[in-house]
Formats: sequence, structure tokens, C-alpha cells
Amino acid sequence: ASYSASSLQPALDSDRSDDESSDIDWDKLGFGVVRTDYMYVMKCSLGDTFSCGELNRYSNIELNPASGVLNYGQGIFEGLKAYRKRDDRGFLLFRPEENALRMQMGAERMCMPSPTIDQFVHAVKQIVLANKRWVPPQERGSLYIRPLLIGSGPVLGLAPAPEYTFLVYAAPVGTYFKEGLAPINLLVQDEIHRATPGGTGSVKTITNYAPVLKAQMIAKSKGFTDVLYLDSVKKKYLEEASSCNIFIVKDSVISTPITQGTVLSGITRRSIIEIARDYGYQVDERLVSIEDLMDADEVFCTGTAVVVSPVGSITYHGQRFEYKTGAETVSQRLHKSLTSIQMGLVEDMKGWTVQI
Ligand code: COI
Repeated sequence: ASYSASSLQPALDSDRSDDESSDIDWDKLGFGVVRTDYMYVMKCSLGDTFSCGELNRYSNIELNPASGVLNYGQGIFEGLKAYRKRDDRGFLLFRPEENALRMQMGAERMCMPSPTIDQFVHAVKQIVLANKRWVPPQERGSLYIRPLLIGSGPVLGLAPAPEYTFLVYAAPVGTYFKEGLAPINLLVQDEIHRATPGGTGSVKTITNYAPVLKAQMIAKSKGFTDVLYLDSVKKKYLEEASSCNIFIVKDSVISTPITQGTVLSGITRRSIIEIARDYGYQVDERLVSIEDLMDADEVFCTGTAVVVSPVGSITYHGQRFEYKTGAETVSQRLHKSLTSIQMGLVEDMKGWTVQI
């Protein structure tokens, strides 16, 4: 899905004016690193509170080789998007307070201090405004904002780091999967697990992501888009895909795995549950078995990066199951409804969007 910075920005000049519009080919936008203009940095010592954040030019950062994040993985991240509104009417963020709250809960689990909700949202707004030339035109993508909270201070014996850095950067993105908006094909994994009971599966810690690269690499080498993980105890219940939550639809009843510590409580997941219930669908958060998956009419994934992605097929133990996709599907209806709110195309009756 990724485009390298060089393919997107053939003529990038780091000294040029921030007012210039970006000479990105918006139609080639995937989900990859683009060096934008500014990042936000705020620091705090262990036992203290965050203060005095500032916008800095986007640059490499300096870390002590003994920093907690490099040595022991003490770090969490968030992801949210800003959409450009029609007719130069500013930008919309989607539920940024929810990301702030999730970062606070994750920080508690990882023994880190965290920014307040106001500090988090303020930093995100600043990052959008400072990088506004990188927000794609309407319907062409969004600015993906990546807040990080890391143990930046040095620590050799295993313990919480003495200093923390909250850092926010952003990049313009289009669709996450190389399939674009077309259905994706998932491989069910029952050997490599994403999470274990008592672990950090429900927290957006950086340490949840590198361990699934192996499974993802194997699946991609066989032509699959990504991996769907099963629970590590019974190897029977769906958890989530590498970068998103999963939903199934059977006879107009929607089900999604319950988040009992091993599944991330996605903000898109929660929003989709609410929108679907508003439409009158029954939505069950429950244990969803591999048999339920085989029997489903429709399957889709949700996440900030993937938005709502239809699943065309799932392969499990060499057997391929195919699902309904296209215009008349539940996922298409929910996708439209969610993105219309996110892009400001309909009135936001839920109070989910924040205007910048
Ligand atoms: C997101 O959807 O925002 C995520 O953080 C997933 C990430 C692997 C791209």
C-alpha cells in the first residue's frame, strides 16, 4: 500500500515555503511515510506532568541508546485523521478525545505519564494547521495523524523510563490496502497469535505490532492481503486482523468479537456499532467463532487507517470462503454513512467531529 516519499514527492525541497501547495500526486496516495513540515513535541519526567509542548520542524529525533522505548518497548501510539472540508471551510477531526482517552488508558497499563485530553487535542489541532498544505483535497484522502508516547529517558535495569516524550507527526494518506476500496483477502492464522490473556492486546502499544510481521509476511507472500488472528487459548475465536477490527454479517445481524483484553477497542469499531444500531441492525459484541465466520454472508474490517474495508474471501486451513461484496452490502452502507460524517458531507448529529 505504501508509496515511498520519493515517488510521491519527486521535487521535494526542504527549504521551500510552507504556504506553497504540495506537489503531490494525490491520485497516487497510498499509506506511506511522507515527510511533512512540522511535528509536535512535549516532554515530561517520571512522576511529573506534561507541559510546554511546541511545534518543531519535522526532523529525526535524538534518543539516548538506553532509552526505555528502544530497549524495553515502552511506547504506545494513536492514529486519527483530518479531512479537508468543502469550499475551504477548514478541517474536521473525528473523535480526537477518544484517542486521547485511549492513550491515557494505554499509558496507565505501560506505566507512563500521559498528556491530558486537552493537551492531546490541542497538539493534534496544531499539527493539522501547521501541515495544512498536506491535507489532501476532498474525496482524495486525509491527513493521518500519528501521536506517539514513548519512554525517551535512559534506563538499563528493567523499570519505567525516567523521561517521556509525546510526539505528534502526520502524513497525507489514501487507502490503506493495495486493493484500494476493492475487497481484501484474509488468511486465518492459528499459529502466530497477536495477543494473549493478561497481555496488552487491548492497548495500542508498539509491542503489539512487530510480533505479527512474520505472519503478515507469510500471508502476503501467498497473495493474501493480511492476516486474521484467532484467540491463543482455544484457537477458535476471531480476534482481529493485523491493523483492524473484524465484523461479520449473517441474516442482517452484525457480530464483532468482544474486546476482553485481547482485542483493541477501535474507535471506528465503536462508531460503526453505533451507526449500525441507529439503522436498526442488531449488533452483537460476542465470541465469534471460526464456524460463524465460515457461515457468514458478509465480512468487513474497520479501523482508522482501513476505514471500513469489505472482505472478499477468507482462507482457513486451505479452505477458501467467499463473501458478498459490492453496492448492496451492509459494509458499503456503513462505510458511506461513516465517511459522510467524517468528511462533513452530512450534518454530524452525534457531535463526533471537531472543526479546525
Ligand atoms: C490505525 O488504523 O490508525 C492504526 O493504528 C493501525 C496501523 C497499523 C496503521
